[in-house]
Amino acid sequence: MPRGGDPFPIAVLASGTGTNLQAILDSVHGREATVVAVGSDVPGAPALARAQRAGVPARAFPLGEHADRAARDAAMAGWIEERGALLVVLAGYMALLTPGFLARFPHAVINVHPALLPAFPGLRAVEQALEHGVRVTGVTVHFVDEGVDTGPIVLQRATDVASAEPAERVLERLHAIEHELLPEAIRLIARGAVRIDPADPRRTLIDG
Ligand code: GRF
Repeated sequence: MPRGGDPFPIAVLASGTGTNLQAILDSVHGREATVVAVGSDVPGAPALARAQRAGVPARAFPLGEHADRAARDAAMAGWIEERGALLVVLAGYMALLTPGFLARFPHAVINVHPALLPAFPGLRAVEQALEHGVRVTGVTVHFVDEGVDTGPIVLQRATDVASAEPAERVLERLHAIEHELLPEAIRLIARGAVRIDPADPRRTLIDG
């Protein structure tokens, strides 16, 4: 990925509350990276208001306003390209991106997932892990490919789960980890430290 003197331009996609977006705005925006666009599939998502408050262009791309998912994603990709983003960060973006969208940002879309992948991919990851009775869980930041939470892992951080620990406590801890790990991954990518392993494209290599 090219890098100049300017902070690395990124787009963030979010469907909901946007606490991860807020962590990015508070910790990397205007420093190692610049958030140049915030998109959502949900008009009125609180994440869009957070972007507006930070003076970042924000736009909703609801499915109902487009012929189909491919058309919605093409419009969203076009807007993100116009804004000049070199990385697309999924921060609680709940719609699956189409192959057409991903093809326009090769190895340049990352996601944060509240479990230690490849365990508990998909929806309700925290609930799935707790229902399973895990003793350790955590957060994964990974590149997005066409599967569900299957792309190359960038960073992971684990946390112990105490016996009979209430779900809310685990969730709170995972959120706090996400708010550190996602900005950390963005910083690493912004300085060009993360690449796909040429010997094994399922893995990433991170330079010291
Ligand atoms: C996070 O838990 C993230 O792992 C998941 O969606 C949630 C988004 O939370 N993909 P928020 O909107 O950033 O508060």
